[in-house]
Amino acid sequence: MSLVLADLAKSWGGFCAVDAVSLTVPKGGLVGIIGPNGAGKSTLFSLVSGFLAPDAGSVTLDGADITRLAAHERARRGMVRTFQVPREFAHLTVRENLMAAVPGQSGETLRGLFLRPAMVRVEEQAAAARVADTIAFLRLDPVADTPAGKLSGGQKKLLELGRALMTDPALILLDEPFAGVNPVLVEALSAHIRALNARGIGFLIIEHDLPALTRLVGDIHVMDRGRVIASGPPAAVLADAAVREAYLGGSA
Ligand SMILES: Nc1ncnc2c1ncn2[C@@H]1O[C@H](COP(=O)(O)OP(=O)(O)O)[C@@H](O)[C@H]1O
Ligand SMILES: [Mg+2]
Repeated sequence: MSLVLADLAKSWGGFCAVDAVSLTVPKGGLVGIIGPNGAGKSTLFSLVSGFLAPDAGSVTLDGADITRLAAHERARRGMVRTFQVPREFAHLTVRENLMAAVPGQSGETLRGLFLRPAMVRVEEQAAAARVADTIAFLRLDPVADTPAGKLSGGQKKLLELGRALMTDPALILLDEPFAGVNPVLVEALSAHIRALNARGIGFLIIEHDLPALTRLVGDIHVMDRGRVIASGPPAAVLADAAVREAYLGGSA
């Protein structure tokens, strides 16, 4: 699933948080975005995922203009995001959180409950199997029946990825997946991302942890003050003088 952003822009009052950003994630690509705090990275994700409407510019998914589609419609087309601060249901277990993230179950509608009990059962069994597979894949078995509020920061990030996976996405937008995650889990999470990418799932990843990101992605885009100031393979981009000034010399 290819994603093309063209001249996306968003201002808050007079302040331009995202300023004419254009970039592409090719089908099955693994692309990174870095930049100092306040550069506009999370705002860009909200524009791409449909949580905010852009002032200008377009979002194109597999050739279709989706700029005006609602977030859930974008998710149904196969593109989902995670949040910088995980949004788990603290009182539900890991397994229940994952079940709740499976979209469009017929049992959720009155019509489904009355008319199609057999179909609802089949769907629930399929969803439970998907949840079990995801728990095993992310090695969350030891905490599967633990309330999500009791997980470590790293485990919450894994659960956030798991919740995204329940929608069967073709493209996942990850907002700082490694923030607050211990180094061992960063490696585990990176391995999961690589494995999913090998299955054809594309990724666009915002990250502050430069070494972890540069080991993972093919291309990175550097954002500073709302704009993309450099793009390309990590080694070339990190050698760029403007990037060193904006990012490495700044708050990083
Ligand atoms: N809802 C909002 N209202 C006003 N300003 C906002 C809002 N969200 C973000 N901003 C501002 O937009 C800029 C970019 O924020 P953000 O996209 O979160 O940056 P990043 O994710 O790169 O750290 C920041 O200056 C931030 O304060
Ligand atoms: Mg952010």
